[in-house]
Amino acid sequence: MTSLNQQLYELSQKYIPGGVNSPVRAFKSVGGTPVFFKRGQGAYFWDVDEKSYIDYVGSWGPLILGHAHPKVVKAVQEAAQNGLSFGAPTETELEIAELLCKLLPSIEQVRLVSSGTEAGMSAIRLARGYTGRSHIIKFEGCYHGHDDALLVKAGSGALTFGHPSSAGVPAETAAHTIVLSYNDVAGLEKTFNEFGKEIAAAIVEPVAGNMNLVKAEPDFLLALRRLCTQHGSVLIFDEVMTGFRVGLECAQGLYQIKPDLTILGKVIGGGMPLAAFGGRRDIMQCLAPLGAVYQAGTLSGNPVAVAAGLATLREVQAPGFYETLAAKTQQLTQGLTVVANKYGVNFCAESVGGMFGLYFCKELPKSFADVMACDKEAFNRFFHAMLQEGIYFAPSAFEAGFVSAMHNSEDIDKTLFAAERIFSSWV
Ligand SMILES: Cc1ncc(COP(=O)(O)O)c(C=O)c1O
Repeated sequence: MTSLNQQLYELSQKYIPGGVNSPVRAFKSVGGTPVFFKRGQGAYFWDVDEKSYIDYVGSWGPLILGHAHPKVVKAVQEAAQNGLSFGAPTETELEIAELLCKLLPSIEQVRLVSSGTEAGMSAIRLARGYTGRSHIIKFEGCYHGHDDALLVKAGSGALTFGHPSSAGVPAETAAHTIVLSYNDVAGLEKTFNEFGKEIAAAIVEPVAGNMNLVKAEPDFLLALRRLCTQHGSVLIFDEVMTGFRVGLECAQGLYQIKPDLTILGKVIGGGMPLAAFGGRRDIMQCLAPLGAVYQAGTLSGNPVAVAAGLATLREVQAPGFYETLAAKTQQLTQGLTVVANKYGVNFCAESVGGMFGLYFCKELPKSFADVMACDKEAFNRFFHAMLQEGIYFAPSAFEAGFVSAMHNSEDIDKTLFAAERIFSSWV
């Protein structure tokens, strides 16, 4: 008899393209059938056939407090009882805006939106409106949501300007986006020397989490900051993933670099649709209703989402929160490395705060090309074997993983024992 999971997947494909509402959920990269989940608690979640899993995806980052954290759930319930949406200002929007400005000194003003995509798209438009320029720089392997201007891949050979990486993106739009290699200072210098006066913005994930995990080298981000200042371009840090995930000061605090604009999402909504973009007051004041750059949203700053975000941000400010989270995440990455190496598997791993990367290769990658050179087949075998063991990693070799405050040492040990069973069988 087919499992309920299989039945749901088959039926979903009839009504939803590919059976999923976001492509990476489809297991296309690893093969097999996506798992349908029905409930979660803490570090665990359960599929529709009642199998439990330790969750290292955390809804792709937001669930820093694990599933259904009692304080977040209570905040959501209380907010919902008072009305789901007003389409008018609320006191809690002010509260979260003030808090974000307090926690991130680079943010003087902030606007709330509903997804990271919206935040990225709005920040790009704002930077263009502010500078009166059209070109933007992005880096290969970074993902900033599915805005047309950002679904762009590098042009071939000597071509500077990008090509659409998705059908439906006009070539004219992509032609304004320059795609450079991550961590390549020389490429950056050359591009700014040539096009500096036309570059509205450079957008970067300061720790990339969409090509597995790749840390920016400090010199790379410093050069980016210097060149943007020198040429009057807006530096946008995409902290949708790293924001309140790598530390309370986010990646900009770790690197001690002040971007002009920051985009946030995931953790700031605690599992609800909430994101934000913010930064320098003089730039933010170009937004409607004050300025000429239009941006709006029916559900922006939704009170239920804001309640979940505030409850989450309250918890992460507890003393020692990030130290404990980082130590647990390291216990996982170092443990996996030891176990893999014991059985001669080409493997390394690293983490920043509560996010991590697992690589089936010998050395930590520094660029998209390095990540692409890792052994994808080995990852896929590992992924499926771990899934059997009840351990859920991201279903792709090119995604970062996440540990929550609810994962304990026992959960990590269970993960390491499972990995040992798997790697020992590969010998
Ligand atoms: C770094 C980064 N920026 C932007 C986005 C887009 O956010 P959303 O999926 O909320 O639109 C993502 C999503 O994974 C992301 O990882």
